[in-house]
Amino acid sequence: MSRVLAPRRVLEPAAAERFAASLARSAMRRCGLGDVVASARSYELIWADVYVNAWIIRWSDDADTGFHDHDGSAAGIVVLEGDVVEERLALGGSPITRRFGAGQSFHMPASAIHRIRHGGGASALTVHAYSPPLTVQGVYREDAQGALERFTAPYTEELRGEQIAARA
Ligand SMILES: [Fe+2]
Repeated sequence: MSRVLAPRRVLEPAAAERFAASLARSAMRRCGLGDVVASARSYELIWADVYVNAWIIRWSDDADTGFHDHDGSAAGIVVLEGDVVEERLALGGSPITRRFGAGQSFHMPASAIHRIRHGGGASALTVHAYSPPLTVQGVYREDAQGALERFTAPYTEELRGEQIAARA
């Protein structure tokens, strides 16, 4: 990561996106970093300091985070390979859905509730930067009556959509 400038402060969402893009360019120069393919959704920590942490994540098959939040961390995401679909949870309506392909990037505020899933076809590879560093994830699911509930999970826990009722 020699050519990535370390951030000097907590990053706004657009700056987190730019930082993720910088990490992605560096990652593409590192031989073998794209070989994050052990499971349907596997990941590797590629940056961690007091302002930002970041992962490179491989998505394949039906990989799906389910709806979650970042507990106060803004995020920037860059797609290196394949397609992913992002959905923002909307009250009283269908989620707001966007599809992103290789070369595209996006960001979200610290307050966002979203879900990311593999977009189908060939596996996808993404870089995610969080600022301030992601420590806790808020995980959403429905109780037996359909009421929305939020649980917390450590950032080290991989989110899997099948654990979360994500009724659209
Ligand atoms: Fe997320």
